[in-house]
Amino acid sequence: MRYQAALHPEFSNLILAFNLGQTHEDSIGGSGTQWLLWTGLKISGTGLAPIRSRLRYDNGSLAIPVNVLGEFAMTTAAATTVLDYASDHYKDAYSRINAIVIEGEREAHDNYMQLAGLLPQHQDELVRLAKMEARHKKGFEACGRNLSVTPDMDFAKAFFAQLHGNFQTAAAAGQIATCLLIQALIIECFAIAAYNIYIPMADPFARKITEGVVKDEYTHLNFGEVWLKENFSSVKAELEQANRDNLPIVWKMLNAVEADAKVLGMEKDALVEDFMIQYSGALENIGFTTREIMKMSVYGLTAA
Ligand SMILES: [Fe+2]
Ligand SMILES: [Fe+2]
Repeated sequence: MRYQAALHPEFSNLILAFNLGQTHEDSIGGSGTQWLLWTGLKISGTGLAPIRSRLRYDNGSLAIPVNVLGEFAMTTAAATTVLDYASDHYKDAYSRINAIVIEGEREAHDNYMQLAGLLPQHQDELVRLAKMEARHKKGFEACGRNLSVTPDMDFAKAFFAQLHGNFQTAAAAGQIATCLLIQALIIECFAIAAYNIYIPMADPFARKITEGVVKDEYTHLNFGEVWLKENFSSVKAELEQANRDNLPIVWKMLNAVEADAKVLGMEKDALVEDFMIQYSGALENIGFTTREIMKMSVYGLTAA
């Protein structure tokens, strides 16, 4: 779980992020009480009651004294956004985002099953990953039903068409590294970024489901990293080409979803940033140098 915080103008040198429920503080300036401003959130539920009296509001935003942040980290699940999940506006955007997520999980299931055929020595593990993706799909279908939203699956199919086509072409040619780059790196990093940004904005039902899902996605990313790292010298050139062919598609996908994501409280800039952190981290783990990663990232930007 990763939260991005807006900063109180008086304390612009205070940087804080929550990462997996832990607080992390950097360059805290001055002494006395410092306030972190939390934009777009309001207090609700009973979990925050013990610290409620120590919070204050500024222009509809929540401010938290730094010395209670540790307690707040334990109770963020009780904070909900000001989003109106029952509004037609929200549900309309959700019908497309929810469909993308469902289709993404379906695609991931099918891709891991196909990879199981291409990598018989890892068959059991890949079938296990595929089953996890099928469970994720069921979870997100339940999220749509919970909000009485019918997912727009035609939109989602078109959204994934290019990546789907490239995976199928690579699988038919036996290009395992390309298949892993598309599924285990690009699709997983895209999912991890989207779910991380979505969790603090989600309705309580969807938040719980998404928190469980995102943990699994890290293990899927890890499978791809490990295999590609072990075979790095023989697949390096193929990966560079696969990156060139597929990273620009991610940028088109992010642009296609920007307006709907915003309605759900998710900013494109945050999605791009989180995706690039995950993706470049994965490339580094596989064995690419910083210079190579910079070069590879440029292929995404040129398509933006
Ligand atoms: Fe998944
Ligand atoms: Fe996954």
